[in-house]
Amino acid sequence: MREALVRYFEEHQRLIEAEALSLLLTQPEPLRLSRQLIETADALGPFVTRSMVERMLRVDPPSGGLPVAGGVATSTAVAAMAEPFRLLNPGFIAGVPGRTPLEAYESLFHHRYRSVHRWLKGRPDLPNLQPIAALRGKEGTASIIGLVRDVRTTSEKKHVLVELDDESGSVAVLLLRDSPAAMAHLLSDEVVGLTLGLPKESGRLPVVRALHRPDVPAGRLPRAEGTSSRAMFLSDLHVGSRSFLGESWSALAAFLRGEGPSPELAQEIEHVVIAGDLVDGIGIYPHQERDLAIHDIVEQYAELGRRLAELPSRLHIVVIPGNHDAVCPAEPQPALPEELGRLLPANVRRLGNPSTFSLDGTVVAAYHGRSFDDLIPALPGADYGHPTEVMKRMLAMRHLAPIYGGRTPIAPLPHDGLLIDPVPEILVTGHAHTFGADRYRGVLLLNASTWQAETEYQRMRNITPIPARAAVVRLSDLSMSVFDFTVPERALVAA
Ligand SMILES: [Fe+2]
Ligand SMILES: [Fe+2]
Repeated sequence: MREALVRYFEEHQRLIEAEALSLLLTQPEPLRLSRQLIETADALGPFVTRSMVERMLRVDPPSGGLPVAGGVATSTAVAAMAEPFRLLNPGFIAGVPGRTPLEAYESLFHHRYRSVHRWLKGRPDLPNLQPIAALRGKEGTASIIGLVRDVRTTSEKKHVLVELDDESGSVAVLLLRDSPAAMAHLLSDEVVGLTLGLPKESGRLPVVRALHRPDVPAGRLPRAEGTSSRAMFLSDLHVGSRSFLGESWSALAAFLRGEGPSPELAQEIEHVVIAGDLVDGIGIYPHQERDLAIHDIVEQYAELGRRLAELPSRLHIVVIPGNHDAVCPAEPQPALPEELGRLLPANVRRLGNPSTFSLDGTVVAAYHGRSFDDLIPALPGADYGHPTEVMKRMLAMRHLAPIYGGRTPIAPLPHDGLLIDPVPEILVTGHAHTFGADRYRGVLLLNASTWQAETEYQRMRNITPIPARAAVVRLSDLSMSVFDFTVPERALVAA
């Protein structure tokens, strides 16, 4: 039955979380429930999560099924958009047992390709869209959607030679030096739409006339008025490091209790999102032990629990892991396990990295940002001091970490959990240990600072941190205030 249900969801372009599947299997009519889920979940994107199953069971409890704990029924899944928290895309979804890693990677790239294809097809700027195999022997103009396999510069004329695949075949195309398409700097493993001028003579390469990324749709409607609640965005606490900024953290906690500047504003903060590297970990980089105040990983999480307990218990805290945390480093990363979760206060919700969720109806995508280590070297002009520029490119690609085989390990899962889907209203990252805020096509971009002072390792790598900043965003209109806790007695509003 398990396999049949997975296939059923796959046939309907849905991916079901392992826990959602287990819950469905405890019910008397799992297939009927699955059909109902697919129908009601139509507007909610490609993922079926345990909380979606739970919500449906509350609305329509079948007789004889196991009871589902907690919660008040809402009329439909969609009507619940303004609930305080809702998971929209869990990023990490466990693979179907029996698949080999190789099959999983193939399936991951298929999923990536099909998703971007769905976003790009039908656009007027991709005229005469064709499968790659159908280009042979044709003349004139045609468009393709392809996954970039290889990008290189021709030795003679410095044009860019790109090889792309789709489900029908492969093609090599030429981007003329200094053309807008060549300046768009294609990356390995991203999926793009290309409009091609096809050559008259055989033996010549198609020339790219225009390049289109899936991107954030222009002219998205501004969000409807919601509550006046606010969310605070933090990252890279590195608890357990000798350079964890304990005094700044205490000042932050006092601010949230209404004892610092802007106590009225502090009272409106209901959510805190922490974008990974919650602890410093052990053995993450050479000779890290010299930088550690706490050498035991479980003790680091116990201290994290004590630090989070300093924040008011009314807050809903969401944490995702980063590359320093004690979960598998391959992305998407699962949430912190239950045995570590037990060390954290009850108001902390553990999610995977990345995750997309809504807070009082506002859609937030949180990603730690390991892929900066691949994207910054690959993109001309990019640097750790300006992470939001890289985040714009992530949104244009609708992908957080496209490059396979670089510094960001990609998990062999049968679907691509690093696609940006749905488009968020707020995209938050960390990892760069700097602070950045910008806007792109209506999306608020935040690189959410750090609570660790500069380490020897960062000095070696020429990274200058901007620590102890907290961005506070009003969820109804995305207006933002930034508070600086580097000098505790003079915490001030910077913007
Ligand atoms: Fe970090
Ligand atoms: Fe990191």
